[in-house]
Order: sequence, then C-alpha cells, then structure tokens
Amino acid sequence: MENRKWWQNTVVYQVYPKSFADTTGNGTGDIQGILGKLDYLESLGVGAIWLTPVYSSPMVDNGYDISDYCGIDPSYGTMEDMEELIRAAKEHGIRIVMDLVYNHSSNQHPWFQESCRSRDNEKSDWYIWRDAKPDGRPPTNWRGIFGGSAWTWCEARQQYYLHTFAEQQPDLNWENPEVRQALYDAANFWLDRGVGGFRIDAITYIKKPGEFLDGEPDAADGMVSVHAMTANTKGILEFLHEFRREVFDGHDIFTVAEANGVGPAELSDWVGEKGAFDMLFEFSHMCLQFPEVETWCKECPWKLTDLKRALSDSQKATAKNGWYPIFFENHDQPRSVNQFFPHGGDKKLAAKAIAAVLMTLRGTPFVYEGQELGMENVAWDSIDCYDDISSHGQYELALQEGFSEREALSFVHTYSRDNARTPMQWTAERNAGFTSGKPWLPVQEGYASCNAAVEDGDPDSVLNWYRRLIQWRQGNEAVLCGAYEELLAESEEIYAFFRSSGNRKVCTVVNFSLQEIPFPDILPKGARRMFGNYAEEKEGCLRAQEAVIYEVQE
Ligand code: NOJ
Repeated sequence: MENRKWWQNTVVYQVYPKSFADTTGNGTGDIQGILGKLDYLESLGVGAIWLTPVYSSPMVDNGYDISDYCGIDPSYGTMEDMEELIRAAKEHGIRIVMDLVYNHSSNQHPWFQESCRSRDNEKSDWYIWRDAKPDGRPPTNWRGIFGGSAWTWCEARQQYYLHTFAEQQPDLNWENPEVRQALYDAANFWLDRGVGGFRIDAITYIKKPGEFLDGEPDAADGMVSVHAMTANTKGILEFLHEFRREVFDGHDIFTVAEANGVGPAELSDWVGEKGAFDMLFEFSHMCLQFPEVETWCKECPWKLTDLKRALSDSQKATAKNGWYPIFFENHDQPRSVNQFFPHGGDKKLAAKAIAAVLMTLRGTPFVYEGQELGMENVAWDSIDCYDDISSHGQYELALQEGFSEREALSFVHTYSRDNARTPMQWTAERNAGFTSGKPWLPVQEGYASCNAAVEDGDPDSVLNWYRRLIQWRQGNEAVLCGAYEELLAESEEIYAFFRSSGNRKVCTVVNFSLQEIPFPDILPKGARRMFGNYAEEKEGCLRAQEAVIYEVQE
C-alpha cells in the first residue's frame, strides 16, 4: 500500500498517567514521570503515546470528568511540563496523542456551574435538561453506565440533567452550535501545541434521540441501560463530519474514536475517506461475554470462534477503506492474559501469544502500559479496596440481582477496571519502583518477577518479545499492510491467519487452549519459523498456548 501515513506504520502505547510513574512521592503518577520513561518507550519501539486525560479534573472518574479542557491538573504537573513532554517525546520519535472527552464534562466545569444556576442563563442550554415526570420521578428509566439513574435532580433549576456516566459527568448538548464550537476550539488549542492526534472518548453517545422514552427494563432495578437507548443515534455522523472539518482535516495527525455500539458492519461509514475518523475502537472482540448489555453479573460463556469472528469481521471491514486499531487491553479492561485464556494457563506464554496476534493483524497495534510486561489482574478481598467507580456500580447491581457478596465480588475480580490500573511495575523494589510514597492503588503481587528492570535483562522475557516483534514488524510489508486471510475458522483451539503482500507471506498460529494438539496442515512449503513462545519447536504439534509466527517467500 503506497502513501501510508506515519501512524499506519507505528505502534501506539497507552499511558494511564495516574499509574505510570510518580516523581513526587504523592502516590500518583505525573507528567515528569512519563518524561523519565521516554528512553524506555523508545527502546520498546513505539511511535506515539495515547495519554489518557491529564486535564484539570476533580478525578471522580480519574480525569474523564474534565473541568478545564485547556488546563493541566496540578496532580500531574503544569502546562510547561506538558509542553516539555510533547517536545521531548518528539525527540524520541514519539508523538503525544490526547484524549478528548466530549460527550460530557465535569459537573465542576464552569459551563455546567453556570448552566445549572437557572433556566435562562447563557449556558442554560449547554447540557441536557428535562422536567421530572408528573410524579417527580426522572424523565426516563435509563440507567447510567456506572449504575443508578442516568438523571440527577438540580434544585436551582427544578429539573433533571442527563449523565450517561456518573452524576458528576453531565452530558453536553451537542445540538447547540456554541457547545460544539467551544469543544472544537479546545481541540485546536492542543493541535497548536503540536500533538500527534486524538483519541475521542465515548463518542457514540453525543447524539441523543429526538424523543426521550422509557425502555423495557433489563434488570431488577426496573431500569434499562442508557447505552441501549442512546448509543449511535441516527444523525450522529453529521456532527462527526463537522468535527472532522473544523479540527482534524489538514493536520498530520491520527484520530481514533471509542465507539461502543458501532459494529464491524458500520465501520465503513465511520472511518476512512468518507468517515469521520481514521480509526475506531469498536468492542465486538472485547465484550464477548456481554452480547446484550455490559452487566458483569450477566456474563455468558464465549468460544474462541466468537473472538475470531469478531476480529475477522473488523479486518474485513477495514480491508479496503479505513484502518483498524488493534487492541486487547486498555484502562477499562481486565488484563488480556486473564481475559482471553482459560484459567490455569501459563501467564508468560499467554502474554506472548496475545502479542503475536496484536503485532500481526492488519492495523495499528495499541499496547497498554504493563501489557508488554505480561501484567495480570488483581483480586482484592473487599469491594472497599476498589477505587473504580464502575466496580462499585456493578457490585451493587449484582447484589440487587440476588447474588451474594462473595459472588458480586468475584464479578469485580474478573472485570474491574482497577485490574488495568494498578501501578506500572518498573523494578523489584518497594512499590515496584512506581512511587516512593504510598501508591494510590496497591501494586499487583507478581511484581518481583514481572517488572521492566528484570525483564530488560532477560532475553526470554515478555518485554523483549515485544521489542523484537515490534522491530521485526516495522520492516515487514506483509505485516504492515498485507491482506488478511483467516484459516481454520471453525477451530475452537487455534487462531491462524495469513498476511500477504506480493510474494511474501506471514502466518500466525496460536493455540488458545491448554491442550497439546496436532499441528494443522496449513503452512506453505518453505515456511520459516521467525518467532515462537516456546524455545524449541516440537515436531507435529502445538503445545498449550503455543504461538508461532512464520514467514514465507513464494
Ligand atoms: C470511556 C473511558 O475509557 C472510561 O475510562 C471513562 O470512564 C468513560 N469513557 C467516561 O468518560
């Protein structure tokens, strides 16, 4: 593929700043901490950092509740620190990608403070306000994504406001052109500072339906998820095209939007030449347990063929038009070594197997901090140990559904967003070298062996596996842009695919099961084994969680 953009050839690394590196000893990470790790990130081979929000925020949802879109939260540093990060990262060949949280602001944002004062101030129409039902109840029975009603009462206005997420995250009214302009201005402010792109948060919720109606309850609380009622509402693409014209067009950046509720079949409307974004995080492969609503206590079993179908559908949907952001982890998801493999497997083999898939699918791979070390989930023994706002909501919901406290906690163990938010593991020292103070979340217990320092010195580590894969990938046309072809689509153990460009082919073969199975007859003659997560080949079979990458020249 000619005329590839820089971001199509690169690997993106996601930094969750609160958990990355603390230089002040206050137990939370900061921008100076990221600056101190640029050499590490360069050695990994990444070309961009997606930075989750560092803007001014009361931190009810760790920065996804923004009170100033052009300010840096003091807990992270200053605007000078941010400018230094953008500049220094560039010197390391790394662009900084900011997170735009535009479905909602914080309730502490001056816009909201003004909006909620009266029904007739200048910002009265900047959020979504509605009268109560005649009996005083909220306008609809929608449940917010973190649990509880999606509406909160405001005394001053004698009205309810809508919040898709927490009550401290009121939804902005995108129908109001002044709101849209203010948001575009903020994004342009960051473009002027030289950022390399944007990840756009929760974008599927910005357009609300014309009429606000009650939905069929989906749980014992009598409510229906707001997601089912508002996600991906018709007309949303008009807003997004305007967003593109007013902000993104004409800049050498990339955009990747978080789009829960958009499936592979719709990708072509959203990305590519006619779409609004360069890439879209769609979640069909990440919520296999939740075919309907993401209610943790209503998890369903899933099969490997479900995962493969979701991945293949997105690969096909972006084959000719658009580009795919490949990811298996982020700050909202459990760790991939726990999520995608049966219990009882070897975590190091699993981490390498996921990396093999991540680095050989077609698209731009996104690595979440700690994924390159093989970091694992946590399982704390009380809900009080959890910080994540959605873990508390889901725990309550499970209790309401009749589960015991122990059962409710086990759902939290499996799905809590805190699984991904424990401090980054840098060394085997106290607090994994993350802070000299008390970390805001406990460090995951496996840090003595799973950390950057130890793994740096171990040629067989997950970290060095990532480094080698990324380096190899950068020079490999078949992997960078070759066609994708799935093999053995019906297999419940093996995920295998070709990537082909000209006379070169790459073949990835991964055994997702814990059983040793016969090696399938799929390899072209002359296939050379380039990577294997077991040191030696075992003739004729694929061992538990074995991942192998082959190259073929025809
Ligand atoms: C998606 C973000 O990834 C998540 O962390 C956040 O809580 C919600 N959007 C609300 O902004």
